[in-house]
Amino acid sequence: MNTFFLPGLIDVHTHLRVPGGEHKEDFRTGTAAALAGGVTMILAMPNTSPPISTLEVLDQARRQAAEDILCDVGIYAGASPEHTAELPALAPKAAALKIYLNDTFGPLRVEDVPTLRACFQTWPRDKMIAMHAEKQSVAVGIGLAATYERPVHFCHISHREEIELIADAKMQGLPITCEVTPHHLFLDEADAARLGNLGDMRPLLGTADDVAALWEHINDTIDCIATDHAPHTLEEKGSDSPPPGVPGLETSLPLLLTAVSENRLTLERLMELMHHNPRRIFDLPEQPDTRVEVEMTPFTIRSADMKSKCGWTPFDSMEAAGKVVRVVLRGKMVYEDGRILAQAGNGRLIA
Ligand code: NCD
Ligand code: ZN
Repeated sequence: MNTFFLPGLIDVHTHLRVPGGEHKEDFRTGTAAALAGGVTMILAMPNTSPPISTLEVLDQARRQAAEDILCDVGIYAGASPEHTAELPALAPKAAALKIYLNDTFGPLRVEDVPTLRACFQTWPRDKMIAMHAEKQSVAVGIGLAATYERPVHFCHISHREEIELIADAKMQGLPITCEVTPHHLFLDEADAARLGNLGDMRPLLGTADDVAALWEHINDTIDCIATDHAPHTLEEKGSDSPPPGVPGLETSLPLLLTAVSENRLTLERLMELMHHNPRRIFDLPEQPDTRVEVEMTPFTIRSADMKSKCGWTPFDSMEAAGKVVRVVLRGKMVYEDGRILAQAGNGRLIA
């Protein structure tokens, strides 16, 4: 089986940088990178500048997206202590709510219980709450899911202690789900040392044992693969205060296909992690007549081939086992052999 079809992939964790970071990525370049990676639906994170925590900024981002997007995009609202009163107004136009419990790029952070209570009490129950939680913060999120009896999705889980705690909580029947990123599955702290700032992101790359733990849980505890596509320019990455984050939309499927070719993962499981589960967990719409044609031909990942505006990848020079050759979105050919055929506005806004 050298060529086969996958459903349009769904990535629930991307940073498209609008508004305020358009020199790193914009809706057009970010969704072009998505299509090149076989991803036809993405959820965009709210740590923009200003952050997407008010109706005014959300509306501004949605207007820009409607003009520019090449694939389907939903936008997260970001929880912030100053704007909890706006949560009910944001909800109908947002795909989900993001709460940052730990430090990362941008000022969005929730460090107080009153804000957490407001989020869990006022965010509609039919929309997901996603959390950036590391180490013991995962226990905070699990406690909130249990207290308010509502689903919580954990972003980019990266340490053994976290995935084991999540497995324990799931065993108790708590309504929690989690994602892992390709960089935490395929790189570790030795790569971080080799890559320097280009291997710096939040959460940091783990030990070889952390990586082993994620693979041990790939067939049960882990629900989704999400890229945490977080582009920054090479100039920014080389500066005195380099921002954390690495791009990932274009390399996610090729790397996971390598895992399939090495029998570390079945193709069936890949589809669950990259399509079925994201769609079910975030209650995302179906994309009829949409498919990704994949060819199992080994190739070398190259920064120069990236469509992302940032123009680099931490996986440069790595071999991958398969690549995307064509993408069809709602009956239209939108990507073929390295060329983006989609027109601005081909994508739809979700939520
Ligand atoms: C992200 C970014 O650059 O926006 N950076 C990162 O290291 N992952 C922020 C985030 O997702 O935490
Ligand atoms: Zn992120």
